[in-house]
Amino acid sequence: MSTVTARAHPNIALIKYWGKRDEDLILPVAGSLSLTLDAFATTTTVERVAGLDRDRLELDGQVRSGEQLDRVSAFLDLVRSQAGTSERAVVRSVNEAPTGAGLASSAAGFAALAVAASAAYGLDLDARALSRLARRGSGSAARSLVDGVAVWHAGTDDGSSYAEPVPAPPMGMVIATVDAGPKAVSSREAMRRTASTSPYFAAWVSSTEDYLERMVAACRAGDFTTIGELTEAHALRMHALIASTEPPIRYLRPRSVEVFDAVAELREDGVGAWATADAGPNVAVLVQPHDAAATAARLSGIVGEAQVRTVGAGPGAHLLPEGPAVPPAPGTGPTG
Ligand code: DP6
Repeated sequence: MSTVTARAHPNIALIKYWGKRDEDLILPVAGSLSLTLDAFATTTTVERVAGLDRDRLELDGQVRSGEQLDRVSAFLDLVRSQAGTSERAVVRSVNEAPTGAGLASSAAGFAALAVAASAAYGLDLDARALSRLARRGSGSAARSLVDGVAVWHAGTDDGSSYAEPVPAPPMGMVIATVDAGPKAVSSREAMRRTASTSPYFAAWVSSTEDYLERMVAACRAGDFTTIGELTEAHALRMHALIASTEPPIRYLRPRSVEVFDAVAELREDGVGAWATADAGPNVAVLVQPHDAAATAARLSGIVGEAQVRTVGAGPGAHLLPEGPAVPPAPGTGPTG
């Protein structure tokens, strides 16, 4: 099939990925664990086009060039080298999350692209191979291949660094959007800076492996309280680590901190809620379904009701049945 459409959702890490030991293969310094969401989907159509001299990228209805196109083209090159062809493609992608706002849209983006491109180029990849492929686009994308809770094993080489499901109790997130604008420093650049300048980096790596082990055990045991405690503590460790770079980077805004405080107050009132934040100011609060409404009401009081969204566990990246492809950007022909 030369035109294929796939859909993927972002994931929010409960044990964070921060730092690579191999930039080219995107091998992380430690494992991580996340919840794939059922909102903010990315839908991506890959259409192979004979005779095209370069790939074309249309993101949210706009033709993209420069770094964005280069990153997609480099990813397609990986797929093409496995498929033994040099045929170019048109990639059309629609993203329901604010790009660059810390809602991990690169995870959904590369997970959807991995599924659509591998099918468009005729590769028959199993779940593990798809996760490894998505990882090459963006590390966290390896986890968006998985339904619900995913552990990404750090691994020691390309073959052993992939994500797989972990059984876990029912849980969701209440997301407070503090600022939907793009972040000042990309997570890729910030990770590099952290690894090369923070004196705390070695401790981060060893303590993350320890947290991950405890988190996987808590998930398997259905121990939501421990899952929540580890989630919030690990997020704050990551932000402390990031703040320790030279020059320093700080993603949390005063209002983000207000949300963390409100979540601590909710706990005092008996609500089981724990906060986390990726490389941005928005805060995701982990809850069990019965505590979602009280949590959403409390966060609405801080950021406004329109900025609060309750989400559940969602499916891993998957192909869509033939038919609903992402339409071409306005003013372009069917293949640009
Ligand atoms: C803070 O996966 O976006 O969200 O591998 O360089 O593309 P690259 O980084 P990316 O980093 C995600 C960082 C994080 C934590 C996490 O998702 O685990």
